Parts: sequence; C-alpha cells; structure tokens
Amino acid sequence: MFEDLEFATSLGSDNHSGVHPKILQAVVAANRGHAHAYGLDEVSKLAALEFKRLFGDTVEAQYVFTGTAANVLSLSGLVKSFEAVIASEAAHLQQDECGAPEKFVGCKVMTVPSRDGRIRPEQLHTRLQRQGDQHFSQPRMVSLTQPTELGVCYTLPELRAWREWTTRKNLMLHIDGARLVNAAAFLNCSLRALTADIGVDVVSFGGTKNGLLGAEAVLLFSPLAKAHFKFYRKQAMQLSSKTRFLAAQFYAYLHQDLWLEIARHVTKTAQDLAARLAEIPEIQVQHAVESNALFVRLPKAWIGPLRERFFFYVWDVEQNLCRWMISFDWQPETNTRLVDAIREVRECFREK
Ligand SMILES: Cc1ncc(COP(=O)(O)O)c(C=O)c1O
Repeated sequence: MFEDLEFATSLGSDNHSGVHPKILQAVVAANRGHAHAYGLDEVSKLAALEFKRLFGDTVEAQYVFTGTAANVLSLSGLVKSFEAVIASEAAHLQQDECGAPEKFVGCKVMTVPSRDGRIRPEQLHTRLQRQGDQHFSQPRMVSLTQPTELGVCYTLPELRAWREWTTRKNLMLHIDGARLVNAAAFLNCSLRALTADIGVDVVSFGGTKNGLLGAEAVLLFSPLAKAHFKFYRKQAMQLSSKTRFLAAQFYAYLHQDLWLEIARHVTKTAQDLAARLAEIPEIQVQHAVESNALFVRLPKAWIGPLRERFFFYVWDVEQNLCRWMISFDWQPETNTRLVDAIREVRECFREK
C-alpha cells in the first residue's frame, strides 16, 4: 500500500515525521482481545505507573488527542471567563490556536513581548495593577512554553523564580511542554525536576511531535487542576474510548526511557547541524539551539532552491529567517546531505 507515494525528508516540523517504530510496536502489542474503555484497562494502569516513576507520585496523567486540546484543557478548570492567562507573545496558545482558549475557556490571553519566547516576572507588574477592578480581565495563570517556540529553555532557577512569583501573586502556573523532553535533555535534569519539583499546577506533555501518534497528555499536579479536569475533557470531546492505545504509546515512550533517547538525539543532532552551519559565513543561526529547532537566516536567493530539496517554513519573510525542525528519525547523514545541498546552492549562486 502507498508504494507509489513519495515521502520526502522535511525540516518543516516535527509533526512531519512518522511514528517511532517502538511506539507502533506497542500499539500492535496492545491490540489483543478486549479491554475496558475510557482508561480502565490494564495498559492504562501500567502507563500511569510510568508517569509516576518519572514525574513523582502527585502526577495524574490524562490523555487528549492534540497539543491545542492539552493547552486549552489545562486552562479549562482553572481560569474563569472573566480571568486571563498571561503568556509570551510567541506562545502557541496565543498565536497558533485559532482563539481556542478564548472560545472554550472564554478567558483573555494577555501577551508579553519576547525575543526568544521567554518571559520574565518583572515584565508582568503592570498587568496586575488592576486586580479587583471589574472593568479588567483578572490575571489568573501564567503559561510558559518549555522549550519555547523559538527553541530556547528556561533554566531551573528561572522556573523556580516563576513559581515563587506566581505563588506570591496568587496565580496558577502552566507549562506548555509539547517538547518538554528536549528541555530535560538539554538541561540534563529529570522530568520531575522540571515540573513537580518546581510546583507547577499543570503541564501539557507532548507526544506526537516526539514520535507518537495523536497522543498528548495533560499532567495534573495541584488538587485544583485535578478537580474537574475529566468533566471538561469530556465536554471538549477529547475523552478517548479506546484509551489503551494512547496509554500503550506513552508506556513505550516512558518505559526504558525511550523519551530521553529521542530527546537527546534530536537536541544533539540540531546542535551538530548548527555547528556545521557556523562554517558557512552567509548563514546565521539566530537563537541558541537548546531543543530540536534551528532558526536560520539564509541569503534570500537560497531559500527557494533549498526548499525544493528539504521543505521548511520561512518564519519571518522580511528577515529571511527560516525555522528548521529536527525529527526523531533525522540522522547525522541527513545533516550531511543537507549541508551538501546548501553548499551546492551556494556554489550555484557564486558562479552567477
Ligand atoms: C509549543 C506547542 N504547543 C502546542 C502545540 C499544539 O499542538 P497541536 O498542533 O497538536 O494542536 C504546538 C504545535 O506545533 C506547539 O509547537
């Protein structure tokens, strides 16, 4: 089947890759006989233990199908319609979710300027000046993306400072961790250190971008976050009936630390690529490479011919800034093929 279709190698997104073979095997392995639905099956129990092993005993992991649903449902039980979530202007929940938080939660998303996606507590003081004022949306939560949409990480001290500040201001703390695993690999710390030990309330924990198939988890830590989650999820039509197949994927991903193997691989491969690009003077890599994303400024004329060989998105047309995302199946040889293609395009324009 599909033998006649051509599947290219893409830098466009980690959503462009397929499913990690070990994850697919787990789905096949779970495909035996009958099992209870809606999370009451034995595979779900095993996966729940894996989440506790990696995130600590307080975590309750609940599955959804998309990262957008994970973000929106992370807010649902915690933020009321007259309240606001504060996020970086680059945050996925602000820029790329088609107003889903506004539609489903009804709240306002307040943005804070940022160059690399990171924001700092000092930027928020003016946002809190009208607390209690009935004319103003009431800030209730801060949402941080780790690593950010621009591929850089908050350090552990930065995250602790955020928790301390949000606690003082009576705000909840959410992490959009669509690629949280890469931050753990980059910072060389545990997933627990990045979440439970910081004291975050709720985390969107990515699966699909890291080699899973339509599987994301919301990690609930605080009692408030846990309280009504399942009702909001059902209303949002994100309660899977055959949960065992989502659980099987997460089990395979977490058990024996496949997550770490993949996260280390994509982060190192992205860093290796950045090092090789440094040898080409016409190219600048814009942000520190602390995840699987590279933001690459190319000569304008190179973009078209290169995109024909390896698809990618132009992030900022005015600056010729392109986003290159490294997927789990990208190999050192793929880096070499890409660098060779760049050199060929470069030669082509030299000759002209
Ligand atoms: C940081 C981040 N959060 C959330 C999402 C949403 O994921 P989905 O496209 O599955 O809704 C994405 C998707 O690109 C993302 O990059």
